[in-house]
Amino acid sequence: MGNRRRPSATNTTTEKPDPDETNPEPAKPNPPIRPAKIHTILKFFSIFAIPYFYLLFSHYKIEYELKKSILINAFVSFFGFFITVSMIPVASKYVLRRNMFGFDINKKGTPEGSIKVPESLGIVVGTVFLVVAILFQYFNFTADSNWLVEYNAALASICFMILLGFVDDVLDVPWRVKLVLPSIAALPLLMAYAGHTTISIPKPLVPYIGLDILDLGWIYKLYMGLLAVFCTNSINIHAGINGLEVGQTVIIACAILIHNVMQIGASNDPEYKQAHAFSIYLVQPLLATSLALLSYNWYPSSVFVGDTYTYFAGMTMAVVGILGHYSETLMIFFLPQILNFLLSLPQLAGIIPCPRHRLPRFDPQTGLLTGTNDGTLVNLFLRQFGRKSEKTLCILLLIFQAICCGFCFFLRWILTGWYK
Ligand code: UD1
Ligand code: MG
Repeated sequence: MGNRRRPSATNTTTEKPDPDETNPEPAKPNPPIRPAKIHTILKFFSIFAIPYFYLLFSHYKIEYELKKSILINAFVSFFGFFITVSMIPVASKYVLRRNMFGFDINKKGTPEGSIKVPESLGIVVGTVFLVVAILFQYFNFTADSNWLVEYNAALASICFMILLGFVDDVLDVPWRVKLVLPSIAALPLLMAYAGHTTISIPKPLVPYIGLDILDLGWIYKLYMGLLAVFCTNSINIHAGINGLEVGQTVIIACAILIHNVMQIGASNDPEYKQAHAFSIYLVQPLLATSLALLSYNWYPSSVFVGDTYTYFAGMTMAVVGILGHYSETLMIFFLPQILNFLLSLPQLAGIIPCPRHRLPRFDPQTGLLTGTNDGTLVNLFLRQFGRKSEKTLCILLLIFQAICCGFCFFLRWILTGWYK
């Protein structure tokens, strides 16, 4: 957490008692956070919701039971949206009281840059997500016991990731430790995973390899662990602009949902449909709770998400990609994150010095951001397209994210039948 101020850990032994305990004057309360930008968020959401529900209810013939489960999940998620919206202002007061806040670096030099912005609100989103996902088990009429084992293992991994993300926010662990946290959190899923460890070889390569299905064994599990490490960290380092962390998650989550419905609609294999339904049951609550967070995190941010959120969102998407068996598609949805990771490699590997924050330079006179030489997609966009305001830059980056998701659908469409 960038500029968080917290009391020294040695307070209890070497310093005077907490002034709150000795000072009879009540502490000055922090001003309430700005209200949620629900209208902006719902306008954005309708662009996705219309095609999604059209595909689900009208375009494809999907069995009644499956549709009913998806709809109940959507309904519980919708409820989760409102709970999250109402919990964030309450939690903000508590995190500020514990000195968990950040300063908005891209507003430094203006009055807004000196406001304490509550941080780590991902903890609210993660908790509501877990409650929704756990309650939903009761309503899933199409589930068998195998399904429940994997579903609960997935939730254990996500929960473990939320915990470690929160630990990171509180303790501010070193960068290299951050990198390995997701591989620890992925353990419950890796241990419970009983699905296949095979990959189908792309048709053009079959004559060269001589096999159309290859069993990777333990290498497949290693791949799953690495995917979790990549998804979580790649979201965490494509960040630092108001709305970017949550915005990218929302767009990828929308793309995943459309992909899942298309796969369910086009398939006759019950196991294949179940795998994609599984993904929907986790991504709908992720989308709903993230939209609630976005309504506070959108420019100008009233709250910051913290590593709790970036890790939680990345882990949830990795888990659904693994258990839904569409990790290649997921990687194309993650194209901006891959690009940002490649740009970051020299600094992450320590070849070029890596400052604590690799953010653009803000000019308080014009209110515009200028790209620095740090290797991030944010800086690359500013260098290529010129100076931009923070909001415009975020919108541009999110449009790029949506274009990459659209490109993935196009690629799948032209490669169908030829590639696999
Ligand atoms: C990662 C990036 C770092 C980037 C940071 C921003 C790498 C290796 N690390 O670090 O370069 O600066 O994310 O999230 O690429 N903040 C804002 N505006 C926002 C969001 C965050 O100013 O819209 C600032 C706040 O001061 C906040 C801090 O970023 O407190 C959060 O940083 P944190 O998530 O702890 O950084 P890292 O994930 O370690
Ligand atoms: Mg972060």
